[in-house]
Amino acid sequence: MKKGVVLVTGASGGQQGRTGRRVSEILLARGVPVRAFVHRLDERSDQLSALGAEIVEGDFLDYHSVERAVQGVSAVYFAYPVQAGLLEATAIMADAARKAGVTRLIDMVMLVSSPDAPTPRMRENYLSEQVFEWAGIGAAHVRATVFYENVRALTAATIARDGSVLLPWGSDSTVIPLVAAEDVARVAAGLLTSPSVPSGSSYPVIGEVLALRDIVATFERVLARDVRYREIPDQAWRDGALSQGYNEHAVEHLSKLWQSIRTQTRRYEVTDTIGKLGGREPITFEAFVSRNTPRSG
Ligand SMILES: NC(=O)c1ccc[n+]([C@@H]2O[C@H](COP(=O)([O-])OP(=O)(O)OC[C@H]3O[C@@H](n4cnc5c(N)ncnc54)[C@H](OP(=O)(O)O)[C@@H]3O)[C@@H](O)[C@H]2O)c1
Repeated sequence: MKKGVVLVTGASGGQQGRTGRRVSEILLARGVPVRAFVHRLDERSDQLSALGAEIVEGDFLDYHSVERAVQGVSAVYFAYPVQAGLLEATAIMADAARKAGVTRLIDMVMLVSSPDAPTPRMRENYLSEQVFEWAGIGAAHVRATVFYENVRALTAATIARDGSVLLPWGSDSTVIPLVAAEDVARVAAGLLTSPSVPSGSSYPVIGEVLALRDIVATFERVLARDVRYREIPDQAWRDGALSQGYNEHAVEHLSKLWQSIRTQTRRYEVTDTIGKLGGREPITFEAFVSRNTPRSG
């Protein structure tokens, strides 16, 4: 197992998968020293401190706070939220980590990462991967598909209101690769503690591949109520997401992602990375919904 302090960014956990929080908890439970990089001190950082993490407050976009945070660490978990600023945050972390002698950086990106990827955020992810690799800091990439948490966030309010799923996802035969953020965090923790990880390597993470009709049927089964999918136009979805507080960067990314998902021809398969690096078989969507969605109606 790799020794030394691990700097975990996004450690408080936010609105998406809370992967930084989960990585911190997994590492601490394994006796790995964690320096938790938090955006602000609050009850979440108090909880991390109680679990044994060293807390450092900072901002991805503030060079000197990142520079201080990487001093003396051997590895970094980098997960920049889906908001504007990824490339600046990448350059800051790459420079600070290189100067501090970091030898491993595991970064969280999306499943598709290439110059021709369908969303602007995925194309930024590709550039971010390149910058980390040039920095010579042992960068490797966890490429995760859509989190179950994201599907829950997108559907919870309308299912609770009237049992509807309102999304621009095409027909109910549209196929979507999904994963539990908990499994993604287990893969990242496995890479952070592995004896060796090839620089520039990447790890796709898919926990289950479901048609939209299977997602709806899962909600019906677990919640024991009727649930119906209704396709809505892209613009209606965008307007709704913005009014719910999603930032413009996330809405642009997700809108392009939905367009690509409903027109894709690619076949997806569950990856072996969760079993091999995360130490157990993937959590199913049904198990996730059973554990996490309050029953109503
Ligand atoms: N959601 C998906 O379906 C999905 C799928 C594949 C990959 N991903 C990738 O997963 C990553 C998101 O990770 P996550 O789910 O762990 O995110 P998350 O739960 O939203 O947590 C984001 C964390 O970042 C912190 N943060 C926000 N702005 C910051 C700043 N300027 N400086 C320092 N910290 C800041 C937040 O702190 P505060 O809450 O205190 O602001 C929070 O702790 C993204 O890179 C995304 O591309 C997501």
